[in-house]
Amino acid sequence: SHMKYLIGANFKMYKSHKDLQEYFDQFVNNYACFVNIDLMIAPMTVCLGTASEMTKDSCVHLGAQNMHYEDQGAYTGETSPLILKELGAEYVIIGHSERRQYFGETNQMINKKLKSALQHGIRPILCIGENLEQKELGISKETLKIQLREALQGIDTLDQIDVAYEPVRAIGTGKSATPEEVQDIHEYIRSVLGNEKSRIIYGGSVNDTNADILIAQPAVNGFLIGSASLDPQKFLKILDVVSKKNK
Ligand code: PGA
Repeated sequence: SHMKYLIGANFKMYKSHKDLQEYFDQFVNNYACFVNIDLMIAPMTVCLGTASEMTKDSCVHLGAQNMHYEDQGAYTGETSPLILKELGAEYVIIGHSERRQYFGETNQMINKKLKSALQHGIRPILCIGENLEQKELGISKETLKIQLREALQGIDTLDQIDVAYEPVRAIGTGKSATPEEVQDIHEYIRSVLGNEKSRIIYGGSVNDTNADILIAQPAVNGFLIGSASLDPQKFLKILDVVSKKNK
């Protein structure tokens, strides 16, 4: 197929404006646009506006790490999809495991967020993943299927959504899932989605040494990267590895 890889950087609650300036000084200058990659960087939401300025002449697409599903209202502390658009976000990460774990996000909330993002033309990256207990119980696939079914309920435009498979045990632990596990789960997710155009990307301790073997798996359409994306040199190495693959 002619699908472009999606490589996403999730900066989480790291990087001040000054850090971002240093990052993009190194990164954008060194970054040659790769024809086979869509590159997305998600800084803290309050930094999106400045990040837009810093990346305006580059191939970097910006994303948000979360959003509310309403356009406006009495939702103290939340962020409207309308303002994300104004600030230059083209993507939004929805349902990251840290949002589910620490902020009580449910599949039902995620479903509303996905619908809202689609309605506003912000491309959602839906994060799903089983935890260690579910894996040990042998219910990884059932868990993922429920997450997908509930998150995608009532949505018939799946082509505008990308899915990130992030096994919870692999996030921020340095212990990536094995290439075989990733291939197997991605094939399963593809069969549940039943479409061709959504990119199914892997996240969880992707770094500059395992990126090569992971991207070599035919069902892996890109990565969502936390820790290793914070260092521009490491991140560039990963992009370089992916740029040499063809799918
Ligand atoms: P990690 O994070 O690369 O540090 O494991 C991935 C993520 O949380 O998306």
